[in-house]
Amino acid sequence: MTPEVRPLIAGNWKMNGTRQSLSEIKMIAEGVQGPLSDKVDALICPPATLLYVATALATDSPLMIGAQDCHFATAGAHTGDISADMIADCFGTHVILGHSERRTDYRESDHLVKLKVQAAHAAGLTAIICVGETSDERDGYQTLDVLMRQMEGSIPPDATAANTVIAYEPLWAIGTGVTPTPADVGVAHAFMRAELGQKFGSEGRTMRLLYGGSVKPANARELMSVANVDGALIGGASLKASDFLAIYSVYDGLTA
Ligand code: PGA
Repeated sequence: MTPEVRPLIAGNWKMNGTRQSLSEIKMIAEGVQGPLSDKVDALICPPATLLYVATALATDSPLMIGAQDCHFATAGAHTGDISADMIADCFGTHVILGHSERRTDYRESDHLVKLKVQAAHAAGLTAIICVGETSDERDGYQTLDVLMRQMEGSIPPDATAANTVIAYEPLWAIGTGVTPTPADVGVAHAFMRAELGQKFGSEGRTMRLLYGGSVKPANARELMSVANVDGALIGGASLKASDFLAIYSVYDGLTA
């Protein structure tokens, strides 16, 4: 946690979910309506096909709905892509950008991610920018260099704490069930906090830093207690309302 920073628990459904899964979103929307919603934000990023219906389901709930990627252009001849304006048009509030699966599958560069972040900001969306090292980079003690390079290349200079969230997602922890130790997460997040503070001043000191990679109900309390960890980006465990809500609820016992 970071003093004065409101945590965010975000779910990334990736390429999972059909209309049948909307019942999970409905349960999450209902489950985040308690007193904890005064202190903690909740977000689900379903596939684009469910975006509009999901936002409609969450209208009367503090649950926010976001997307998993966008193009950097506002519109045009880009078959298969969606724009940040289209996400906003569906009442989405956030977009995940630079997730390692996109960096790997589509060779997205830091520069491309930055263009997408700028498009997201222009559309009034909050960008969740993902950074993180591979296992080889970790074994080569390059974690902090990688984080610095990715943050430097992907975060636009006018980013603010309101429109930008950074997610530290070590690639070797994504979908593997393996997580870094809380001490390792603490080192990475302290480094990112210092870098952001240096570059963005007070905005950087309060920009939310999420941890992502195999977050589950069983390890969430420990990971969310680490200094400078302001929430989680959850893949697999966000698909089930009960797991997502169990992770969200760890903040019941945590005070910033
Ligand atoms: P995971 O995915 O929780 O399934 O490891 C995290 C992510 O890729 O955001």
